[in-house]
Amino acid sequence: MPTHPASNIESRFSRLTALLAEWQSVWRPLPFTQRRAAWCERHPELTETLLGLSDAQLARLQADPWHASPLAGRLPVAELAGLVELPPLAAKGEPLPAAWSQHVGGRKWQQIEAFIRCLDVTPHERLLEWCAGKGHLSRTLARRHGREVGALEWQASLCEEGRRLAAAQQAPVRLYRQDVLADEVAGFLSADTHVVALHACGDLHLGLLERAVAAGCTVTLAPCCYHRTQAADYRPVSQLGRALCHSHSLHLERNDLALAVQETVTAPLGVRRHRERANAWRLGFDELQRELRGEDTYLPVPSLAYGQMPERFDDFCHWAAQRKGLTLPDGLDYRRYESAGWQRLAEVSRLELVRHLFRRPLEMWLAMDRVQRLEEAGFRVEIGTFCAHRLTPRNLCIRARTS
Ligand SMILES: C[S@@+](CC[C@H](N)C(=O)[O-])C[C@H]1O[C@@H](n2cnc3c(N)ncnc32)[C@H](O)[C@@H]1O
Repeated sequence: MPTHPASNIESRFSRLTALLAEWQSVWRPLPFTQRRAAWCERHPELTETLLGLSDAQLARLQADPWHASPLAGRLPVAELAGLVELPPLAAKGEPLPAAWSQHVGGRKWQQIEAFIRCLDVTPHERLLEWCAGKGHLSRTLARRHGREVGALEWQASLCEEGRRLAAAQQAPVRLYRQDVLADEVAGFLSADTHVVALHACGDLHLGLLERAVAAGCTVTLAPCCYHRTQAADYRPVSQLGRALCHSHSLHLERNDLALAVQETVTAPLGVRRHRERANAWRLGFDELQRELRGEDTYLPVPSLAYGQMPERFDDFCHWAAQRKGLTLPDGLDYRRYESAGWQRLAEVSRLELVRHLFRRPLEMWLAMDRVQRLEEAGFRVEIGTFCAHRLTPRNLCIRARTS
């Protein structure tokens, strides 16, 4: 299946900008932090449809917001579904030997295998991995192509472990302890370099694009964590992105960008139940603290790791109150607050469905901004998916070269 040519990307980018802007008052606010999202009054029919969804409908739409959606009459579901559709990138070569997966987690290995099969490696290019961790990808590339691979990683312990693994497998990998944001990184890139980056975060992959533009090298990038960026306000990296944001009055903040990567591979049932209870309790505490303080505003409470959650709601409230410097009076009706928490969770989960609908469009929009940046710099660019969504929802891949 062909990947999308640039002209198509430009029109998608433009349409996505328009829809993100048109619906920004609905998808940007976090329903969790408000007793009732401010947009509900302005969209009574949408609110009614959402709050009227059964638990089964809710679960189905959480898993798949695109098909047979009861929201289709209220939101541009079909158009968004079309705009986020991308074909898989053409994969090459045989599957990799299973023995090579040693020391790599199961899902990570499958991602690496899929990513490598989408890499278009030409005979004379020098391979360089950006933000390599323990260099699992580099090792596999070195073995697959029988050539040396350079790898840049900041954390000393990961570099050490990566060198040990490469030596044990006799894979010709050179791991450099290097901050990829430092100026001297430029010395690693030239026109014959092919930089590969699997799940490099925000500023780290944006830095890569700028270095690649300066050096004219080839890039294969699967971006991740767009919100891991210094700037509190997102400034599009492409000229077209900036122009579109300006003409549609779309202004994105770092917090908005987190939505793009909120979808994760479905957790096991036990973990989901734990998360659900934690959220209901946080909302129950929210009801309590608003009454206690006489102030109708949200107080963020830190998350508790899986094993650290108290067994009882009242103990949780005492813990949360202490964190927020509040004293809980005796004789509180904890049952009432707990059930208010569950009630709010039911509402919040339904209102959140709107954000689910705009999650992939936002991710696609951010990826298109990167594609466009490279296009504008004269690169030939393709975008597609490198693996199935069930392996990772961060499955977008950008391939760019100058010739
Ligand atoms: C999300 S991990 C991805 C690792 C690997 N590519 C993978 O897919 O498993 C990001 C990696 O970037 C590294 N990193 C973070 N900041 C860095 C920097 N400024 N320079 C180089 N590496 C950095 C982290 O230590 C981490 O290993």
